[in-house]
Amino acid sequence: MCGIVGYVGPRPSQDILLAGLARLEYRGYDSAGVAVIDGEGTLGMRKKAGKLAVLRDSLADSSLPDGNTGIGHTRWATHGGPTDENAHPHLADDDRLALIHNGIIENFAALRDELLADGVSFRSETDTEVAAALLGREYRNNGGDLQLAFRGVVNRLEGAFTLLAMHQDHPGLVVGARRNSPLVIGLGEGENFLGSDVAAFIEHTRKALAIGQDQIVSITPDAVTVTDFAGTPVEAEPFDVSWDAAAAEKGGWSSFMAKEVSEQPEAVANTIRGRIQGDQVVIPELEGLDDLFIGINRIIITACGTAAYSALVGKYAIEQWARIPVDVELAHEFRYRDPVIGDDTLVVSISQSGETMDTLMAVKYASERGARTLSICNTQGATIPRESDAVVYTHAGPEVAVASTKAFSAQITALLLLGLHMGRVRGSVEDASVDVAELTALPEKIAKVLSSEQEHVTQLAGWMADTRSVLFLGRHVGFPIALEGALKLKEISYIHAEGFAAGELKHGPIALIEPGQPVFVLVPSPRHSAVVHSKVVSNIQEIRARGARVIVVAEEGDAAVLPFADEVIRIPLAGAMFEPLLAVVPLQIFAMALATAKGLDVDQPRNLAKSVTVE
Ligand code: F6R
Repeated sequence: MCGIVGYVGPRPSQDILLAGLARLEYRGYDSAGVAVIDGEGTLGMRKKAGKLAVLRDSLADSSLPDGNTGIGHTRWATHGGPTDENAHPHLADDDRLALIHNGIIENFAALRDELLADGVSFRSETDTEVAAALLGREYRNNGGDLQLAFRGVVNRLEGAFTLLAMHQDHPGLVVGARRNSPLVIGLGEGENFLGSDVAAFIEHTRKALAIGQDQIVSITPDAVTVTDFAGTPVEAEPFDVSWDAAAAEKGGWSSFMAKEVSEQPEAVANTIRGRIQGDQVVIPELEGLDDLFIGINRIIITACGTAAYSALVGKYAIEQWARIPVDVELAHEFRYRDPVIGDDTLVVSISQSGETMDTLMAVKYASERGARTLSICNTQGATIPRESDAVVYTHAGPEVAVASTKAFSAQITALLLLGLHMGRVRGSVEDASVDVAELTALPEKIAKVLSSEQEHVTQLAGWMADTRSVLFLGRHVGFPIALEGALKLKEISYIHAEGFAAGELKHGPIALIEPGQPVFVLVPSPRHSAVVHSKVVSNIQEIRARGARVIVVAEEGDAAVLPFADEVIRIPLAGAMFEPLLAVVPLQIFAMALATAKGLDVDQPRNLAKSVTVE
């Protein structure tokens, strides 16, 4: 939620900020703004409601003064609607100071009252302007020392925040701080950057520093200093970004989502790479950490949204291979219900961004209760892995489209690897050769689904552009894929969609079936379980008898579905735990094609932002 970028250096900052914001726009896109300080020490600012393009057009008409120090923001509204006034930056100290913010300042009402009593007036409804006004007052009270004033402000704020600020009396200086909200530093030659994530500055540098919780950073063209909130210097952790600017470009695709769906074979292959030794799965990052998996009697996987659906697949795989009970908990539910956890519990969190506030808080909560914590994450330097005892990175590369696709596949892959790794460590998997062969065959099979079903599924979506509701059914590991298929469709095509466990149908949802109701059914291979397969075929007959339009996703050669299906989407043969990675692909393509047929923005669906850094 909200993208933040800061720059100090020799170059004019406006274009650098706008390019950074374009890469961060997935984090929020209801308004955007930039502020720069020019060589004369004059602060210029422009902010506009709407997507970044609106701000760009306005700056094209009349540019800000050339300035080498700047901050920029793209917003996902929390306090106050998406208007010009509520957009960031917010100004204070007679418009000589600019501040941007990501997060929620929980005590803003009390601070606002205090400032109002002090004679301050506000132009917006945001919590951010309160922080700006507070900084203005602290600045004056501290004799114009921006760093000291900034420290005074962050120590008074409650909640979650990343803040960046600059003052026209201090060209060449941007100060920032973070608490439970992301901020990374980009190190250039004679220039430095700040960003919500590395995408903000990836075209300028791949050298970065991760800032810890409750830390303050000051950047000038030649120096970076990091302290805690008390002003004590701390070491920031350096890391190199493993992908380059081209990886975060659309590269000729119609949308980032289309590109990312097509990148799934690579995302899965990269997540597996280096983690197979002979016939076994050995995750190098977990070597020497066997204690995480021995002496526990329970695993809880916690995540939100799509990541939580990957967790449901992980539950089946880990229980099968590591022979340990696994529960999946939505992070926001887990944390507020006094769960029974302790040092015999391993809490695995899953997050593409590594910044989802609900998941982060669940990890912190689990650590406080003495549980062991491991995260599965796609973003280097993110907060969730830093707060966990161990991390298994997915190597899906940057995911820009709001709807998660390749990260989902990489998350399932990481969970399969984790299940086999854990099974080996716990002695419940002696021979993983068949599963290892299944894993290594996955990228090619996903590529096959992409090439063989793209046209068919796109055509199907075109025919269904006026559909008002779509249902998805699955059993076993097909159930989470049904949930994911429904989520993809809801979020980008705004069609009512629901996923059900097929066995649940007769307990209520079958009442929704009326003539013409489209229902996707994920049919498991009969080779895995003839019983489960036959139950799903029976479910198909039940809905068909009530007039449903049945679209089945079934493995090549499964003829049992043919008499009852209106459409058959074929996937290659795969082991039971590996099928979800194939079955999800046509559902992703379907959602994308249907949204496109409706003329919607596939990458930036309404009301959403990619990284949910507020609770
Ligand atoms: C849906 C989607 C979201 C995220 C969820 C968690 O397509 O992208 O449901 O999966 O917000 O995000 P991360 O994985 O960043 O924690």
